[in-house]
Amino acid sequence: MIESDVLQNWTDRVDTELVRYFSAKDLSCNPLDRAMEYTLLAGGKRLRPLLTMIVCDAFGVAPESTLPLALASEFLHTYSLVHDDLPSMDNDDMRRGKPTNHVIFGEANAILAGDALQAEAFQLLATAEFPGWSAQRRLLAIGEFSTAVGRRGMVAGQVMDLGEEGKDVDLERLKLLHARKTGGLLRFCVRLGGHMADVSEPNMAALTRYGDTIGLLFQVVDDLLDEESSTEKLGKTAGKDAARGKATFPKLMGADQAHAYADDLLQESLRAITDLQTTDGLLETVARYIRSRDH
Ligand code: IPE
Ligand code: IPE
Ligand code: MG
Ligand code: MG
Ligand code: MG
Repeated sequence: MIESDVLQNWTDRVDTELVRYFSAKDLSCNPLDRAMEYTLLAGGKRLRPLLTMIVCDAFGVAPESTLPLALASEFLHTYSLVHDDLPSMDNDDMRRGKPTNHVIFGEANAILAGDALQAEAFQLLATAEFPGWSAQRRLLAIGEFSTAVGRRGMVAGQVMDLGEEGKDVDLERLKLLHARKTGGLLRFCVRLGGHMADVSEPNMAALTRYGDTIGLLFQVVDDLLDEESSTEKLGKTAGKDAARGKATFPKLMGADQAHAYADDLLQESLRAITDLQTTDGLLETVARYIRSRDH
């Protein structure tokens, strides 16, 4: 859990908004909505919408006003988790402390729930209200979102991840893999906050550096936790990467060096913050949390 009352409060707001989103729909006898809701409301750190809220707050935009638009990334992320766990991908049976989506709803419904979560993400980004936002800026954000999560981003990263199973990869390729499969969406969430707060170009450049660095850091720590934490703490199967021969930072460089690399990335992200024309401390808090999190 993030050791910040403010961030905990915003995380709760995200959860409330997600519950409200689904309670507004007719769920009776609708297996698709039930499957979507199941993994979306199972919990999760809600880091992606939180990043957008934090950036907005740093530039004087009320974080609550960014919901539900900021939820788009949580819908997209949840779809990626549901598909990541499928038998044909990582074949995992536990996610967010519960049996995975396909275990409960069957493989076809899990694939379809993921598809619909993805579409819903684009719908939110295209239609959710955010007063004063120009159509041009919104369009720009939608374009960046597609790049971050599709064939140039997350999906390409997932293809690399599966293709590299059981193989030796070099450091540059591993960084590219991580940046695509995980970093791109996190970077987008940071930049979305920048777009919503209409920040200047130098601020956007610093935000992008921050987003790139915490994006990579996030997956390095995910790899470390897979080796060093427990299934109970993680709410997903620990030790899975080694079992499947995944290309990870601890596998490539050893755990000690992977920890040192994570420390370096944290420092780099903190340097990016000092280039911002704002003095807000929550960007630092969340960067430190991404490094030190235990699940
Ligand atoms: C897990 O993401 C998948 C990766 C991108 C490494 P999170 O660790 O953010 O998962 P939740 O949202 O908290 O469940
Ligand atoms: C998943 O990476 C990244 C995406 C879902 C895009 P992992 O396969 O490492 O995620 P976990 O460890 O299963 O959460
Ligand atoms: Mg995976
Ligand atoms: Mg996985
Ligand atoms: Mg992992």
